[in-house]
Amino acid sequence: MKTPALIILILTFNALALTPEAEKGKTAIAACMSCHNAELIPQLAPPFYGVQNKYKKVYENKQDFIKSINAWAKKPTQEKALMQRPIKILGLMPPMPLPDDMLNNIGAYIYEENFGPPCKHWANDLKNDTTANMKTGKGKGMGSNHDAMIRMKYQQLCQ
Ligand code: HEC
Repeated sequence: MKTPALIILILTFNALALTPEAEKGKTAIAACMSCHNAELIPQLAPPFYGVQNKYKKVYENKQDFIKSINAWAKKPTQEKALMQRPIKILGLMPPMPLPDDMLNNIGAYIYEENFGPPCKHWANDLKNDTTANMKTGKGKGMGSNHDAMIRMKYQQLCQ
């Protein structure tokens, strides 16, 4: 009875595969990666790992998720932002008024992709936060809440 094992294998691959829209988005997202690349130090934008996490918490269904990514990219505003901290540190993202189908494909890709944790980014964040906190005397030497959260995630997922 080898068939069940084969079926499970096929189902697993299917679950991992991107939809055709997301597959197109994977190419189109090059337009975003000059800033959103998780390997960039210093960082220019939050990696899509964190963006996906945040947007999935707020938008439960895929269509709403895609719509909000589309609306954001066309016209980023502070009121619309789900992530306030990156704006403070990096400034507001410039508008990316790409065609709708392209933005929707990018949204589908951000929704579907299994992004790896941005370990390099977190390591740098922790280094900078600790230095900044020591300089300003903030965080009583233990770093901010954000610092603690990143440290925990870093230990769980990167070490
Ligand atoms: C020139 C650099 C740059 C490019 C190019 C860029 N972004 Fe951004 N993006 C940023 C910065 C900086 C932030 C963090 C500040 C902010 O939220 O405005 C950000 C934040 C975001 C957020 C989080 C917004 C929120 O709700 O807080 C999303 C979603 C996003 N970008 C999507 C995209 C997509 C999709 C593209 C490509 C179509 C793109 N970005 C291209 C710089 C960029």
